[in-house]
Amino acid sequence: MTPDPDVRELTLKVRHKSEIADGVFLFELAAPDGGELPPFTPGSHITVTAPSGQKRRYSLCNDPAEHDRYLIAVKQETSGRGGSLSFTRGVNDGDEVTVEPPANDFEMAKAEPKRLIFIAGGIGITPIRAMILHCLRQGKTIFMLYYFTRTPTAMAFRDEFASSAFEGKVVLHHDNGDPDQAYDLWPVLEQQRGAHLYCCGPRGLMDAVRDMTGHWPDSVVHFEDFVGASAPHADDQAFEVRLAKSGEVYEVAAHVSILDTLRQHGHVLASSCESGTCGTCRCRFIEGEVDHRDLVLSDDEKGYDIMICVSRAKSRTLTLDL
Ligand code: FES
Repeated sequence: MTPDPDVRELTLKVRHKSEIADGVFLFELAAPDGGELPPFTPGSHITVTAPSGQKRRYSLCNDPAEHDRYLIAVKQETSGRGGSLSFTRGVNDGDEVTVEPPANDFEMAKAEPKRLIFIAGGIGITPIRAMILHCLRQGKTIFMLYYFTRTPTAMAFRDEFASSAFEGKVVLHHDNGDPDQAYDLWPVLEQQRGAHLYCCGPRGLMDAVRDMTGHWPDSVVHFEDFVGASAPHADDQAFEVRLAKSGEVYEVAAHVSILDTLRQHGHVLASSCESGTCGTCRCRFIEGEVDHRDLVLSDDEKGYDIMICVSRAKSRTLTLDL
């Protein structure tokens, strides 16, 4: 089968599913007839529909030179009530899944840098792995990967990156959940020295890398945080959020999220991705019109729930069931 460039949705079959790290499942997706799939470039993602109807975006982690399969690694977010739970529990070998073809918001620069630095935290390794496999295929071997997880068993592709093939090119580090054990990246990032940097991981890691590379040219520092559609819009307006249970009312500034606004006022609220993809910050709203910017909620759920890390209000006031 030759891929149709205009196709908006594909039905793919799960050729193989396996747990490759604690709560991380690798899915091999292929065309039912085993034919060619729409091509992709390093850093691409696909959007899949979970059995619950929720759409989730996952980076492709295989070599883009492979034309007959997509590999995605999905971390099961048990606290999120989101699509990852539905996908990792409800999709198994032989099942069919609906997939939007690859798109890329994390492209590798065309320029030929003197060296490449890859920084990955947790499941953020997925687009980075595709980039590294692509570089190796192209004969580009001057790179370093810094890959961090809380524990060794949480590290997807650990055996591969710990193998002799990557000797001298990879630093694997585990902080055991203790910030004092975090890897010190400053010696790596203090001087740019002709490098391009690609970073994907939790918000805290990306913020730290962003801070440490503030003196680098913007054009050489690349982040994938799945903010895409959920990123602030230039025309975002302030609005007010009312908490139904306490009656408190706060002004949400144009470029501040509801989540951050509530935290600034002392509310303790759970979050994880802070980019509208995991479902952890889900809240019920009671009144007002929501500008939904997440990738978690189904159309029905958008009638009563909101992801307060990214979504905003179209009405002047939004009342939350908090
Ligand atoms: S959707 Fe993940 S924290 Fe909001």
